[in-house]
Amino acid sequence: MCAIDLDVVNEIVGQKGRTADHAIPILQEVQKRLRYVPREALARIADLTEMTESQLFGVATFYSQFRLEPVGDTIIKVCHGTACHVGGAKGLTEALENRLGVKSGETTADKKFTLTSVACVGCCSLAPVIMVADDRTYGRLDMKKAVSIVDGLEGVSSAESG
Ligand code: FES
Repeated sequence: MCAIDLDVVNEIVGQKGRTADHAIPILQEVQKRLRYVPREALARIADLTEMTESQLFGVATFYSQFRLEPVGDTIIKVCHGTACHVGGAKGLTEALENRLGVKSGETTADKKFTLTSVACVGCCSLAPVIMVADDRTYGRLDMKKAVSIVDGLEGVSSAESG
């Protein structure tokens, strides 16, 4: 297991503040820097602030933006909002699960990709939609197009595509 750099947490708390109203900005910055919010980070934040670890855990689990498990280098999100659901999101998820060899919510063994499902990402007119790495949105997909997008990502193994 990689050691988690908790010095980053000290630095963030120093910048953001130590009271309960700073919980969300602290957690957002921790996630930005560490790519998820490890339990060890919650414990460290609790040591440094007025908040308890269980209060912080409550905030981190209440808001869906926070990830409590490590993720791959690239997160592939399949929108399962209403429009995308109607447009075939379930099939996209199944096709990508087969392509990557993981279930939705899991990370590939080489830690390069995490496949996940999300609620509406705000571009329903393009449904069904996937989002790659938080900033690239692909719409009007079918299973074949979704798989070809993943095929084109750097670092994706070609072993399962045959
Ligand atoms: S339901 Fe998928 S973008 Fe809105």
